[in-house]
Amino acid sequence: MIPAIIEALLESRHLLVYTGAGVSAESGIPTFRDALTGLWARFDPARLATPEAFTADPELVWGWYEWRRQRVLRAVPNPAHRAIAELESRLSRVTLVTQNVDDLHERAGSQGVIHLHGSLQTPRCFDCGERYGSLARELDEPEEGRRLAPPRCASCGGPVRPGVVWFGESMPEAALQQAFEAAAECDLLFSVGTSGLVYPAAQVPQIASRNGATVVHINPQPVAASKPREYSLPGAAGVVLPQLLQAAFPD
Ligand code: OAD
Repeated sequence: MIPAIIEALLESRHLLVYTGAGVSAESGIPTFRDALTGLWARFDPARLATPEAFTADPELVWGWYEWRRQRVLRAVPNPAHRAIAELESRLSRVTLVTQNVDDLHERAGSQGVIHLHGSLQTPRCFDCGERYGSLARELDEPEEGRRLAPPRCASCGGPVRPGVVWFGESMPEAALQQAFEAAAECDLLFSVGTSGLVYPAAQVPQIASRNGATVVHINPQPVAASKPREYSLPGAAGVVLPQLLQAAFPD
């Protein structure tokens, strides 16, 4: 383990953990760019994750999201989620910002998770925006490739949509603001399991770096560390994060 990272962790007054789909990969949730496998492989994400797609074919889009939600319901947090939750109890201040729409951080015990791309658990009406509260917890037989009619809104009768941010939609203002503020303020940032391709969320590590924070990338694909105090720890998050905890807090 790189001594400068351990030192930064032990001295940190504000750690920002910034996660992407890779943190949930070891829980069996396919990363976004791997999600269109099997029967879904014939679809383009742009055909499924946009308001236009939902308007054109709500049953196709709702069916895909219900299939994804069912996978999340059956998944459990992995050692990476648990290590991040444990960091919260070890350090004076930890902010957790995720691009993920699953709830595995919460189920591992993390508090106050900031979701930049919304959540699979918060469906709302496509027409009037009213929150829809009663999705069946589990379908009997979630079938890959199955079209499903979305439920209807109790207030206006409009179709219910997933509570996630789609391509072409803006991110929740308050969450983005909180993430940018934490990025400007933190002294250490762990960027875990994200390809960093999607803006403006991808700015989070850049802001932290510009403001002098140590930035550590944890990803099986090594990230070229080009700035001072920027490091890459190549490997699966569920292996690297527990190792990091053990090295910093060996009790
Ligand atoms: P991606 O699917 O783009 O990238 C996943 C990253 O996780 C890749 O860099 C992988 O190398 C890495 N990875 C895979 N397995 C890992 C493991 N075991 N441990 C650590 N890392 C691992 O996912 P995101 O970067 O989250 O947005 O994508 C961001 C956004 O792109 C998604 O939230 C989605 C999509 O557009 C919206 O839907 C708005």
